[in-house]
Formats: sequence, C-alpha cells, structure tokens
Amino acid sequence: MPGFKVAIDGPAGSGKSTISKRIAEQLNLTHIDTGAMYRAITYIALQKHINLDDESSYVFMQDLKVRYEKNRIYVNDMDVTDQIRSDAVTRNVSKVSSFPYVRRILVQIQQEAAQNIDVIMDGRDIGSVVLPDADLKIFLTANVKERAKRRQKEKEVLGIKQELDALENEILERDHKDSTRKESPLVCPPDAIVIDTTHYSIEDTTKRITEEILKKEKYH
Ligand code: DC
Repeated sequence: MPGFKVAIDGPAGSGKSTISKRIAEQLNLTHIDTGAMYRAITYIALQKHINLDDESSYVFMQDLKVRYEKNRIYVNDMDVTDQIRSDAVTRNVSKVSSFPYVRRILVQIQQEAAQNIDVIMDGRDIGSVVLPDADLKIFLTANVKERAKRRQKEKEVLGIKQELDALENEILERDHKDSTRKESPLVCPPDAIVIDTTHYSIEDTTKRITEEILKKEKYH
C-alpha cells in the first residue's frame, strides 16, 4: 500500500482522535477516525429501529457509503458528525462493532480510504488488522480516572453534566466489551510504541508522536 501510514490505537478516552487530528494538521497527513464510522453505523441502525442484537439486520449497510473527510463523517453524503456523539450511540456502539459482518465492511472501507495517501488512522484494530504494515504504530493508554475526567470536560463543553463515577463505569464497560469481543478486539500490537498519557498533556503527547514520525525515513 503506497503512502506513509500511522496507526493509532487505544481505549476510549486515551486521546487518540484529538491527538491524531493535531498531528494530521501539523504534518500534512489525512486523518481518518474509524470510531466515527462505527458510531455512524450505530446511529443509522438506531434510526432504522432494526434489531441491534441480530447480525443479519445489518445488511442495510450494503446500500451505504461511509466517508470520513476533514473531521466530518458522512453517510450517503449526509453529515452525521453531531448525531454520532449522542448517549444512545455511545451506549450501543460496542455491541454494533462486535459483529464480524459490520467489521468486515468497515475494515474494507478503511483500507480503501488509506490507499495511496499519507494517513494517520485511529481506532482499536488499526495496527493489528486494518493497516498491519503501517510505518508507525502507537498504542495510547491512560488510567480510567483520567480518561473519565477528560470525557467529563468534553461533555461540560457541550453543556452536559455527568458524575465522574458514572463516566468511569461507562468507560470500563466499553473497555471490557471492546477488548473481549471475538472479532479483532482492542489489542496492543507487539510492534507498537506504547505511550501512557495519564500524566501528559495533549501537547506533550502530540510532540512525542511527531518526533517518532520525523525519525522515519519514509516520511521525508
Ligand atoms: O473511538 P470511539 O470511542 O469513538 O469508538 C467508538 C466505538 O467503536 C468503540 O467503543 C469501539 C468501536 N471501534 C472499533 O471497534 N474499532 C475501531 N477501529 C474503532 C472503534
């Protein structure tokens, strides 16, 4: 696959998307947030009132075009960027993304989107499944308290108040579902650089990953 590829994986709230977005802007890479794609399918599934527990209900995906472009997510050219952040989507996305049928379709879309371009892609299975030959693989972590605090701040900006304990439980539940599912669970690829961001700011982590990218011959 020609082009320079960076894979960023990690659990919910580890800072993947925010950091990937910044690096993409600074180093002129295309950013693709794959979590937004799983969320978009979850949003459409909820809109369609299908049986979310039945894998065969997801055949509706055959008629959908999913595209992530310039920090926005589109389904058949409809911008669903704001809708995919609802609580209903967050509650159900781990279930939707556990179905092999759903994953197969989205992984193919992600691999096609990354072809022939310089890309930084973030998710749960990028280094392990989507871009196994990535030029750089990063695995971001942070302890659950810190991740819950970050989510709380993000929600506050949107005018939503939520208790830290509730957020912590929500994150732990999603971590568990994402790491124990059968099809491409959240794993740290053996060749990834692990960065614990608990005590680092977004700026520090961005700088650290940027340094790793600049070390790569292929980037230049
Ligand atoms: O990164 P996020 O929280 O927006 O991701 C939402 C959900 O999508 C997450 O709980 C697991 C799933 N996901 C996945 O299974 N594989 C990916 N590559 C990205 C996200």
